Amino acid sequence: MMKRILAATALCLIGAVATAYAQDEGANRESTMKKIGGSMAAMAAIAKGEKPYDAAVVQASLTTISESIKAFPGYFPAGTEQASDESSPKIWEDKAGFEAAAAKLATDADALLAQLPADQAAVGGALGTLGKDCAACHQTYRLKK
Ligand code: HEC
Repeated sequence: MMKRILAATALCLIGAVATAYAQDEGANRESTMKKIGGSMAAMAAIAKGEKPYDAAVVQASLTTISESIKAFPGYFPAGTEQASDESSPKIWEDKAGFEAAAAKLATDADALLAQLPADQAAVGGALGTLGKDCAACHQTYRLKK
């Protein structure tokens, strides 16, 4: 937070700092999506039977997804369009749609946290629900490399 305030202040003063700030946002985007991807992979291992069902793992994964996707739209302030190479200009053109796509995933993850998938099959069902939310946002707002 402090870092962001300082960076935002410096932004007005020096162009070089503005570039560093933008790169920061790009790194935040990638690390956040990687955390979400890791959580999906942890649940996929259970759904496929590679790992035994473990309520603590499912709960931790869903919590990470919920918290991460709630923070995610904050990493796209104006002026950071070039901070990462997979973010579509549509994010800035249709901010409301982008935020709605993030909110959809957060809502679904929170609903699953409130009624935790209780066995291997239920974890598979949860992945189906969440996976649609990933795809819906990526289709419109993530550039294919
Ligand atoms: C609200 C939109 C949105 C949702 C929902 C979303 N993503 Fe993403 N995702 C993005 C954007 C935008 C990028 C590209 C970020 C960039 O510019 O690097 C991305 C990139 C990624 C990446 C690549 C990260 C990297 O290494 O650069 C992974 C992995 C990923 N998403 C996984 C997921 C999974 C799994 C879900 C669902 C559980 C999900 N995402 C849901 C918007 C979204």
